[in-house]
Amino acid sequence: MIENPAQTENNLTPDDKIQMITGAFGYSGKYIANLLLDAGCRVHTLTNSVNRENIFKGKVTIHPFDFDSPKKLVESLKGVSVLYNTYWVRFNHKTFTHADAVNNTKILFECATEAGVERIVHVSITNPEIDSPLEYFKGKAELEKSLIESGMSFAVLRPAVIFGKEDILINNIAWTLRKFPIFGVFGDGQYKIQPVYVEDLARLAVKAGSQESNMIIDAVGPESFTYRQLAETIGEIIDKRRPIISIPPDIGYLVAKIVGWIVGDVFVTREEIKGLMAGTLAVDSKPSGQTLLTEWAKKHSKTLGMKYTSELARRKDRKSCYKSN
Ligand SMILES: NC(=O)c1ccc[n+]([C@@H]2O[C@H](COP(=O)([O-])OP(=O)(O)OC[C@H]3O[C@@H](n4cnc5c(N)ncnc54)[C@H](OP(=O)(O)O)[C@@H]3O)[C@@H](O)[C@H]2O)c1
Repeated sequence: MIENPAQTENNLTPDDKIQMITGAFGYSGKYIANLLLDAGCRVHTLTNSVNRENIFKGKVTIHPFDFDSPKKLVESLKGVSVLYNTYWVRFNHKTFTHADAVNNTKILFECATEAGVERIVHVSITNPEIDSPLEYFKGKAELEKSLIESGMSFAVLRPAVIFGKEDILINNIAWTLRKFPIFGVFGDGQYKIQPVYVEDLARLAVKAGSQESNMIIDAVGPESFTYRQLAETIGEIIDKRRPIISIPPDIGYLVAKIVGWIVGDVFVTREEIKGLMAGTLAVDSKPSGQTLLTEWAKKHSKTLGMKYTSELARRKDRKSCYKSN
């Protein structure tokens, strides 16, 4: 860890240079874009969803990712001072894979270098590990390595779980608590999780973008829960106190698969269960976000988990903006 931008003032100054965000119509990208627009910056986005509802009233210029045409991607990146990269895929699916995301991100880094981008703020994950048997964590580690070896000026942010109105995991825990009379945790549920608020992550990203030194920061919030405590806490906040039972991970996965069929989504993958149980979503470093999940959830207790949030729906419907809880 080199420096934590949360400890320094944001010295962002609006200028003619472009701030490029991947996925500005997505989740974390939207919050980063809003902060940059508020600071008077010129904001562009690279996206797979060029026809998604433009929530920025035309203030964000849209470019397609063009991973298959690196020349076009280089053109889109010319004049960019900071590239904020949120691009990734959550799991392997017949229409997208972690391997694609790794290859495409490497192309993005190469094109950014060629286009003369000055700095990359790259969103990774807590505990990336090059030897991890979990493709998510291995792929993220490989990308961090590529970025460092590229010689570009960089900041890497490593969030655990990101919570906010468009979040999936916390919302769907609440949805499960509302829908079912009991809540199952995989194994003993004692593995930890340290959620960070999406706006805190966006602030860290923008601050990191305005600095010059290379840095790797764990983007984690001030509260840490065991998975069991997280389910209990959310249950209390939304007034759905359910018995929390331990279930073997294989059985939990089967149940999740059935729920996934019902809601037309991938509820949770085997890999995600393994990652969760291995404690990959918690770290020992000091919190870099300030917002308490408990306070935020209390403010949103009436809406949290009222509707299921579907990852696949976001991938299939490329026109509507992300639904929020
Ligand atoms: N969400 C979390 O709880 C969480 C936790 C830890 C780490 N992270 C990391 O934070 C970053 C941002 O996450 P986010 O939740 O804010 O992501 P997001 O907005 O849903 O997506 C970010 C970008 O990736 C693209 N993308 C996502 N899934 C894709 C798929 N299956 N196929 C093709 N493109 C896809 C989006 O496409 P469009 O351009 O079409 O919008 C968007 O450009 C990611 O790198 C993720 O690994 C997230």
